[in-house]
Amino acid sequence: ELGPYIEYDGILFPILPIKTPLEQHLNNIANLEIRPDDILISAYPKSGTHWVWEMVRMLISGSPEHIKDSKVGRMLEFKETKTIDDLPSPRLLNTHLNVRHLPKQIFTKGTKIVHVYRNPKDIAVSFYCHATGIKRNNGYSGTFHDFLDMFLREKVAFGNWGDYIKEWEEVFDKGETPIKAVAYEDMKKNPVKHLKEIATFLELDVTDELCAAIVDACSFSKMKPIAETLKEKAVDITWKEGSSIFRKGQVGDWKNWITVAENERFDEFIETKMKESDMKFIYTL
Ligand code: A3P
Repeated sequence: ELGPYIEYDGILFPILPIKTPLEQHLNNIANLEIRPDDILISAYPKSGTHWVWEMVRMLISGSPEHIKDSKVGRMLEFKETKTIDDLPSPRLLNTHLNVRHLPKQIFTKGTKIVHVYRNPKDIAVSFYCHATGIKRNNGYSGTFHDFLDMFLREKVAFGNWGDYIKEWEEVFDKGETPIKAVAYEDMKKNPVKHLKEIATFLELDVTDELCAAIVDACSFSKMKPIAETLKEKAVDITWKEGSSIFRKGQVGDWKNWITVAENERFDEFIETKMKESDMKFIYTL
């Protein structure tokens, strides 16, 4: 069992750390007042949200400094909308929500969106380690193999990975929204290049030196030791001893977890699920 969750509109939501009931909370989010200078980072869980969030925050501030509690932004669904309303501009918001649950004004006000995606096998491993590492609802206590089975049966929090990706792909295809997609694996392979592309997309006038300094400050080895400082920023998570959002930070760790038989099942799942999708995923570097 994954622990308590609420099924709403076809999505399994975790019990969010807020008082407002889920349906009303989603309604509040849908009607959130969006400002012209808001920026949104969207990503399925475990796709590299924290990393990209921190780099983009530094791009906006023009400085490669980690700061304790910036109040620049929060994860939409993990906060009461009042908290989001009270944040000073410019806000860097982030979310795991499906497209249909986003604030409606995102699409009417031309909000710039940075969309982070990652190969689903590394996501499944990272998701399992997250689910077992968190204190909320005591976390998940099953095996990786059971978790993977749930992932492939589409019974994990925040909805089905494939449906989520396909909803976002439709947003790119429509071409009506300013959206920049970046793969976790590309960011790992060539971070400065991709960060500069994000800066250009956001119309931020930054030097190559600043981008390089940000990439360095946000390398896995530099971010992991300051996890405690950073954790309040994008998402509030309480971790069990020894666990953190900064687990391994590599491409292809799935090979250490997924058996040959499971890998075959995973490939079949991807093939069937993503038949009509043009998305390509990178499984090794
Ligand atoms: P792993 O569990 O594979 O290590 P999210 O922020 O969306 O929850 O994603 C978490 C994943 O991003 C974790 O993957 C984490 O280690 C990785 N990550 C976090 N910071 C990173 C960094 N600075 N560089 C590379 N990967 C990072």
